[in-house]
Amino acid sequence: MHFSSKLPEVGTTIFTVMSRRALEEGALNIGQGFPDYPIDPRLAHCLTEVIGEGRNQYAPMEGVVELRERISAKLRTSYGRLFDPDAEITVTCGGTEALYDAIQAVLGPGDEAVIFDPAYDAYEPAVRLAGGRCVRVALSPPAFRFDWDQVRQSLSDRTRLIIINSPQNPSCTVAGRDDLDALAALIRDRPITVLADEVYEHVLYDGRRHASVLAHPELRERSFAVFSFGKTLHATGWRIGYCVAPPAMTRELRKVHQFNTFSIVSPLQYAIARYLGEHSDAWAGLSAFFQAKRDLFAGLLRGSGFEPIPAAGTYFQLVDYGALSRDGDMQFADRLIREAKIATIPLSPFYAAPPAMTLLRLCIAKRDATLEAAAARLCAFAQGRAL
Ligand SMILES: Cc1ncc(COP(=O)(O)O)c(C=O)c1O
Repeated sequence: MHFSSKLPEVGTTIFTVMSRRALEEGALNIGQGFPDYPIDPRLAHCLTEVIGEGRNQYAPMEGVVELRERISAKLRTSYGRLFDPDAEITVTCGGTEALYDAIQAVLGPGDEAVIFDPAYDAYEPAVRLAGGRCVRVALSPPAFRFDWDQVRQSLSDRTRLIIINSPQNPSCTVAGRDDLDALAALIRDRPITVLADEVYEHVLYDGRRHASVLAHPELRERSFAVFSFGKTLHATGWRIGYCVAPPAMTRELRKVHQFNTFSIVSPLQYAIARYLGEHSDAWAGLSAFFQAKRDLFAGLLRGSGFEPIPAAGTYFQLVDYGALSRDGDMQFADRLIREAKIATIPLSPFYAAPPAMTLLRLCIAKRDATLEAAAARLCAFAQGRAL
């Protein structure tokens, strides 16, 4: 039987490819975005406590109320507004499920979604599965600034969704309040919804403040905002995220969520709720924590030939290897795995039409010793000697 693919051009993600190559070559993997240090032991303890207490059956479809209430309190602290835990907050399987559900809730066959390249790789397949089409607007390195006139030109009467990601993975840039104002003005009289991927909401550097759509009076009325406890609690494997949206939009999102995952692992939800009850500002030190890692890593690499591009947010760091080689980034990243025993993530797979660039993405959510070892390998490679 001929089985035709709904996603013929989708292969294995660049993260899986590079992680697999890292294993094959025994390379240090600082490509994929996950911490290599433990979670707070108290968070782990909360999980064993709630399992022992019998919190082991289906959670409510929208998420356990204890967690949704904690999220609401957190949003009030962060964005100065009360969101209704019953009507506006839904717990999902990581930020990824929230993105997928929102896209399915909005788009139908022939509809268009505007996304910004370099784009996180989960957006386009979800748009296509909804029968929609992505219109990709490229942000140019190294500044990756929005050009709102170009965005305007990319709109059509089929545009139903604009997906914005700030702090942005993989460019490590952040949108300002002026960007949100420009976005709001652009869609004011159009039937366009916003999907705001804000999973790095608490990782901004050098005193920057996150401009959330939830703090924007006009945008919050027409946005799905997506968050991830994987990022805020250093627990990417727990797969707990959530989506915040006005009641009518939340109702539609839950129709998808209900028949996608139905409900999310209940002990993990109870554990996070209990932990946030004890640490209501658990995310307060995140920017300083990652900024110290960014500064350590960038300091070790500066002048080596792997030139760090100043990062404004996220837990990644871009480096420009242009002084060392003019090879394409896929080819150069593979050479680094083989010769320097370091796995990184090339940037071109995040573009539909990659511009000429020599950039690699490195993850700084690692122990200082890992960052030091990675920098030593990169510096040794740059100096032409193998470790
Ligand atoms: C920009 C962006 N959005 C969404 C996600 C997915 O978040 P989660 O791991 O909670 O599914 C990630 C994870 O790396 C990400 O970088």
